[in-house]
Amino acid sequence: MNENQRLESTQVKPADKKSEKDYSKYFQSVYQPPSLKDAKKRGKEQVNYLKEFSIPEDMKNAGKGKRFLIRTYGCQMNEHDTEVMAGIFMEMGYEPTENTEDADIILLNTCAIRENAENKVFGEIGHLKPLKLENPNLLIGVCGCMSQEESVVNKILEKHQFIDMIFGTHNIHRLPHIVKEAMFSKEMVVEVWSKEGDIIENLPKVRKGNIKGWVNIMYGCDKFCTYCIVPYTRGKERSRRPEDIIEEVRHLARQGYKEITLLGQNVNAYGKDFTDIKYGLGDLMDELRKIDIPRIRFTTSHPRDFDDHLIEVLAKGGNLMEHIHLPVQSGSSQVLKLMSRKYTRESYLELVRKMKEQIPNASFTTDIIVGFPNETDEQFEETLSLYREVEFDSAYTFIYSPREGTPAAKMEDNISMEVKKERLQRLNALVNEISAKKNLAYQDQIVEVLVEGESKNNPDVLAGYTSKNKLVNFKGPKSAIGKIVKVKITQAKTWSLDGEMIEEAVEVN
Ligand code: 5AD
Ligand code: SF4
Repeated sequence: MNENQRLESTQVKPADKKSEKDYSKYFQSVYQPPSLKDAKKRGKEQVNYLKEFSIPEDMKNAGKGKRFLIRTYGCQMNEHDTEVMAGIFMEMGYEPTENTEDADIILLNTCAIRENAENKVFGEIGHLKPLKLENPNLLIGVCGCMSQEESVVNKILEKHQFIDMIFGTHNIHRLPHIVKEAMFSKEMVVEVWSKEGDIIENLPKVRKGNIKGWVNIMYGCDKFCTYCIVPYTRGKERSRRPEDIIEEVRHLARQGYKEITLLGQNVNAYGKDFTDIKYGLGDLMDELRKIDIPRIRFTTSHPRDFDDHLIEVLAKGGNLMEHIHLPVQSGSSQVLKLMSRKYTRESYLELVRKMKEQIPNASFTTDIIVGFPNETDEQFEETLSLYREVEFDSAYTFIYSPREGTPAAKMEDNISMEVKKERLQRLNALVNEISAKKNLAYQDQIVEVLVEGESKNNPDVLAGYTSKNKLVNFKGPKSAIGKIVKVKITQAKTWSLDGEMIEEAVEVN
């Protein structure tokens, strides 16, 4: 643990000692909440790499005969954290369950990126209360990004005292200790470190499925885009050592995984924190592409840090997939400046031009925020025109949501919600129009699909993704699941393609 790291582990639940009225006064005197202000302070202290993780002896069988359930909200990073927590639970003897009634322990792995993500979690907390009343032995925990927010922790302490534990994104490896405290104490266990700690290797993981796997390459974000809560909830940028990542990918390849996705909030900053070697994402991809695994992807990119070396490496193709998710957020240089994105409309377009030239088959997707404070009609039109110019294959689109503690949340905003909603609709109409147009080009084409399983809506149909990340639903034998097959596209839809399997593809690497 770093010197400056604050351990905020406190047991608070004086409900039996005090009335709810003076409760808030009480906990403030004994409890130090997580602090976004502290989280913002970035030091140069070295990251320590701990190679070993083990469950404490007395917790190794703590879950025998019991079941756990983790509900995950938000991004792939959270999904992957859930896989780690599931791994820890399994090593403690717990079995997984999908059913809240059967669970002995329920965790909500939360997302703080927008207000509606938080509202969903508070809704779920409300739903869980009757279960806890029925079964007082049930343990309920809140973890993930919302736990790093002071206001959220305070709200849970005040309004949802039946919650047994709250722990943050930097405390996942402490799960056995936190569960132990919660088991033996009647009080709420709160353990949220405002500052990130070490990188811990060899944490157990239970991956969802055995076809596609996520591999973390770095943690945190130092970009501090003015609207974004992530740099506060996930801490400063810390990269895993290349040898650890390469070993993990090799291990997945040996286990028969067909695709891995490298994960980070801003993967293009990979390696910038190394003090002993000059090594970036391009170097890492150049080594990973030699591993015998059919597909490698990465997300999420930041245009500012996307360097020429990475483009050169991606242009080598092979198992490096030709899909680039490159969040633009806005097409207006003025708005980008207020967002502190550190690139302009022109430099973004130039970057895309360069990539299209060097990786001619690449497909592009993006993230866009509409209704940033005071965004004018003209500025919004610039977003539409940039979208048309790049011709993204698809996009995640959002209405700006103020996040307490971020600089943008303090900006006055003269744009009504009605206008913002109308802009989102117009943008989505454009996104659909261009997606449909791009998909039409696939009509009667043959594509390679990594088959993931039965389609969600129709068990008689199989589903999977192309190298460019297009969803394909097609008729084929169940034996194709987990394989890369050739599919002829028979119908192009707005969001997906329909087809018929022709044959198994030869895996080239
Ligand atoms: N409001 C709306 N959208 C946001 N995003 C991040 N923060 C906010 C916010 N405060 C979006 C960005 C980012 C994606 C993961 O979520 O587009 O790329
Ligand atoms: Fe948030 Fe910007 Fe970091 Fe992405 S790059 S996580 S949008 S601060």
